[in-house]
Amino acid sequence: MVNAERFIRETIDGIRTGAGDHRVVIALSGGVDSSVCAALAAKAIGKRLIPIYVDTGLMRKGETERIARMFRDLDLRIVYAQEEFISALSGIVDPEQKRKAIGERFIRVFEREAEKSGARYLLQGTIYPDRIESEGGIKSHHNVGGLPLHMEFEKIIEPLRDLYKDEVRDVAGALGLPPEIQHRMPFPGPGLAVRVIGEVTREKLDVVREANAIVEEELVDRFLPWQCFAALLGLGTGVKDGNRVHGWIISVRAVNSQDGMTACPLDIPFVVLGHLASRITDEIPSVARVVYDITPKPPATIEYE
Ligand code: XMP
Repeated sequence: MVNAERFIRETIDGIRTGAGDHRVVIALSGGVDSSVCAALAAKAIGKRLIPIYVDTGLMRKGETERIARMFRDLDLRIVYAQEEFISALSGIVDPEQKRKAIGERFIRVFEREAEKSGARYLLQGTIYPDRIESEGGIKSHHNVGGLPLHMEFEKIIEPLRDLYKDEVRDVAGALGLPPEIQHRMPFPGPGLAVRVIGEVTREKLDVVREANAIVEEELVDRFLPWQCFAALLGLGTGVKDGNRVHGWIISVRAVNSQDGMTACPLDIPFVVLGHLASRITDEIPSVARVVYDITPKPPATIEYE
C-alpha cells in the first residue's frame, strides 16, 4: 500500500519538474483518478493547469451539470462534443474499434483545446490496472491503447500510473477531496459506449443512461457495491398493454471487487431486483425485459465490451 502523504509530496515535485514552464491540459472526467490528478497538478503548477471536461454524450445522467458544480473553483473548460463522438461511433460494432474511435476523438478534442491555450503537455489519470490490461492485449483502455500514434502533444504525464484504485482513493482522502469523489464508483473512459452491445445510437444511449440512473438510485446507498450499472444487450420480445412488442433488454450488473481485476456479483434480494425490473420497464417504455448478471470476473469482465 502506498504511503499517501509521501506520494503526494513526491508527485507534486514530480509534476512540477515534468511540466517545467509549460501549460498542461488535463482531461477531467469527475472520477476519482482524474480528480486526484487535477488536485495534485493544481498544487504543483497552479494556473498553468488547464482542466477540460468533454461532454461526449456517453456520460451518465446529469454528469455535466454535476462536474461543472463540483469543479467550479478550477477554471474548468467544458467542451460540448456529443455530435462528434456519436458520429464517430456510427456503424461500429466491434468493441475494440469503438474504444479506438473514442480514444481518437478524445485526443483530437484535447489537441484542439490545447492549441487554443498554447499547451503542449497532457496530464492523464491512467492507473496501473489500465496499463496492464492494455499491455496484456485484453483491451485498449481509451486513455492508453486508444491513443493515435501521431499525437500532437510533446509529453504525456501520468502520475498515477503505478497505483491501484484503492490507493488512489487513499490519496484522494489525504488530499481532502470530498467523499463524493473519493468513493465514487469507477466509470469507464469510453463511458456508456461499452455498456451498449453493438452499434451505439442516441436512442440506445438515452435508454441505458436512464436505466443506469435507476440502478444507481436503488443500489448505491443501500448495498455500497464496488460498481453497479445498467447495460443494454439488444432487442427482445415482450408484452406491453396487451400487445406483443419488441423492446430493449437491460442487464443490471452489481459487483464487489478489490481492484477491478477480479469481481463477484452482489447477492441482492429478489424483492429488490423485482422492484428494479418494475421501475425500469415502467419508467422506460421501450424496455421489455430486465435481467440480473450473476457472473463473476473471471470468466466475465465487469463491463460488457
Ligand atoms: P473490466 O470490464 O475489464 O473492467 O472487468 C475493470 C474495471 O475497469 C473499468 N474499465 C475502464 N476504465 N477505461 C477506463 O478508464 C476503460 O476503457 C475501461 N474499461 C473498463 C471498469 O469499469 C471496471 O471498473
